[in-house]
Amino acid sequence: MKKNITNDIYYVGVNDHQVDLFEGQYVVPNGMAYNSYVIMDEFIAVMDTVDQHFTDEWLKNIKEVLGDRKPNYLIVQHMEPDHSANIMNFLKAYPDAFVVGNAKTFKMMEQFFHEEIPHRVEVNEGDSLNLGKHVLTFVFAPMVHWPEVMFTYDSTGKVLFSADAFGKFGALDIEDPEGWDCEARRYYIGIVGKYGPQVQAVLKKAASIEIQTICPLHGPILSGDLSHYLKQYDIWSSYKTESEGVAIFYTSVYGHTKEAALEMAELLKANGTPKVAVSDLARDDMAECVEDAFRYGKIILATTTYNAGIFPFMHTFIDHLLERNFQNKQIGIIENGTWAPMAAKVIKDKLAGCKNVTILEPTVRILSSLDDNSRQQLQQLADKISEEYKAVKELKEEKAPELDPKALFKIGYGLYVVTSNDGNKDNGLIVNTVSQLTDTPLRVAVNINKLNYSHDVIKKTGILNVNCLNTSAPFSVFQQFGFQSGKNVNKFDGQEVVRSENGLVVLSNSINSFFSLKVAQYVDLGTHGMFICDVTESKIINNIETMTYNYYQANVKPKPDTGKKKGYVCKVCGYVYEGDTLPEDIICPLCKHGAADFEEIK
Ligand code: FEO
Repeated sequence: MKKNITNDIYYVGVNDHQVDLFEGQYVVPNGMAYNSYVIMDEFIAVMDTVDQHFTDEWLKNIKEVLGDRKPNYLIVQHMEPDHSANIMNFLKAYPDAFVVGNAKTFKMMEQFFHEEIPHRVEVNEGDSLNLGKHVLTFVFAPMVHWPEVMFTYDSTGKVLFSADAFGKFGALDIEDPEGWDCEARRYYIGIVGKYGPQVQAVLKKAASIEIQTICPLHGPILSGDLSHYLKQYDIWSSYKTESEGVAIFYTSVYGHTKEAALEMAELLKANGTPKVAVSDLARDDMAECVEDAFRYGKIILATTTYNAGIFPFMHTFIDHLLERNFQNKQIGIIENGTWAPMAAKVIKDKLAGCKNVTILEPTVRILSSLDDNSRQQLQQLADKISEEYKAVKELKEEKAPELDPKALFKIGYGLYVVTSNDGNKDNGLIVNTVSQLTDTPLRVAVNINKLNYSHDVIKKTGILNVNCLNTSAPFSVFQQFGFQSGKNVNKFDGQEVVRSENGLVVLSNSINSFFSLKVAQYVDLGTHGMFICDVTESKIINNIETMTYNYYQANVKPKPDTGKKKGYVCKVCGYVYEGDTLPEDIICPLCKHGAADFEEIK
């Protein structure tokens, strides 16, 4: 099949409709193309050969392009036999041609053919071959898909010959109604998926050259706007989520686990999940399943316990994922077992080494068949894995705006000790409301609750220090400055202190920087006062991470001892309010936080 790609580059590849399994494992209902190209110039180069079953057709295609001329070079970019099987047949037809490859290429040639290559050109990364008008540069692409792989860049035609990269299942004489992505993704994940970092490395090299056409060894020649193909390769090779939604993979012996998988699909759809893909691992194409597992960022594995492990198809499926560097996923598990359910444990153990994989709770446990309890777990897992889709759906359906004060805790607050002095004693207060306003001049705003003594002191004196707590700060710092009032106690009693130029205390530990402020403007905010201040002094103490509100909650604050008390606990300091209903206007007597910071004791 002779076809022009540019004025002097021709397609001479073949279509294979006989192959039952490509590479011995992948079904290819639309066949397979083995691409090969001829560059006609002062010197003629043939790019790669084709599968062993198509020798005559391929040589005929070449002859049709060459006419009476003879090729000077056979460039071998990849030694896998679907592309290299005809090297010796080519040399029989054209014994004077030089074979171009790298050191690894020629080593593999010896292993495959056990024959001398009479004329060879061994190239290194970045070497060029001048054909006359066309200058070819060799770009090594190890492990995309074998170690000897190299791409060839024709700087004259701006053509990248990309070996297996950007390839696709399917012959070229059948139009693929699904477009390029689907079978290119199944091909990439299945065949090259393990080698994401190597593909990333070669994409970086490709970014520095101008490419108008990509000529891969399988699938269509790509031209025009190439950004889509490059973007897809970037997503796949960096293991990012390509599509929003949830993919469910199940195995089922008598239909009960399948029933749970299908019910889960309905729950996810009801929660507004944009796409729910359900696959039966025993019956659907395994390569399609593997592709979907990489495509979606959230997956659910549903399987039966079998021989004290997991059902064989699930076992195989997870092995395929692990072989391909499976990572960056949220995973839900549904296990079924009649007497000793083990599947969830085995799955968790198998996935334990994966990078950035989160197993979501709860694991759904089915004892033989679904019941009320396991259905409740299904709902909980569905809500968990689709929480952002559910929230977006609720937002779209909301009749009146919701007001959830907890939403504001998602602001990335730091925690600070504000020091001041009332003329008689030093004072300190924990706040999370410090923000920089401008950098010219350096201006900072600090909000302080009017109930805090520091508010009145700063309003009167017009100066304060902000001490930025770092993650080494122990809980005692929060007790010292947060759970008692400077009205009643001297928070620095008996301590030796360090002072900044303005005479106020700078904490001598637990902080990573401090700045001294002079109040330029006061804004009355009702419950709080906002001090807009100029920075008069500032210094970095160390580079330990700043203590955030979330870090404090997760790592510093001890779990409150609520015992058997009924009521509400302050999440900031642990104060317990006993009672059936939390007063809306409650202010924590210890840390002065409001109702939004209380949660019910359960
Ligand atoms: Fe198309 Fe890696 O061979």
